Amino acid sequence: MTQRTLVLLKPDAVRRGLVGEVIGRIERKADWKITALELRTLDRATLEQHYAEHVGRPFYEPLVEFMLSGPVVVMAVEGERVIDGVRQLAGPTDPIAAAPGSIRGDFGTIVRENLIHASDSEESAVRELKLFFQEG
Ligand code: PPS
Repeated sequence: MTQRTLVLLKPDAVRRGLVGEVIGRIERKADWKITALELRTLDRATLEQHYAEHVGRPFYEPLVEFMLSGPVVVMAVEGERVIDGVRQLAGPTDPIAAAPGSIRGDFGTIVRENLIHASDSEESAVRELKLFFQEG
């Protein structure tokens, strides 16, 4: 089942020089392809749309500020069951709960600075890819 997903390497991943490490893990998965990739400083309007479902939660504003704190890598990744697959590679939201071997489990400690975002469903992937790659 070929799918497409949106992956963001968050400002902590870029600042800490972990972009190559994370991209390498994605590239080594059989059948997966990075079909678009850009280093980009996001704007607040895009992030407000991206995280709209979390408005009002205590982590919302600090999360938006964090995502504005430096450039991120924006990627479209395509391949066999890639939506659940990238989330599996990432590990759970809290890096301390993430197993060693996952990206968050290997490199994270702070919940907010959890290195990577990946779409959580086909519907989210379509919406997020549209939002981050407006030219199609
Ligand atoms: S939920 O309850 O399942 O909807 O939440 P979850 O998918 O785990 O998280 C939604 C996004 O918010 C981020 N998040 C946080 N950021 C900062 N601090 C705290 N405490 C926190 N909890 C959740 C989480 O990383 C998700 O963002 P993305 O960009 O998808 O990783």
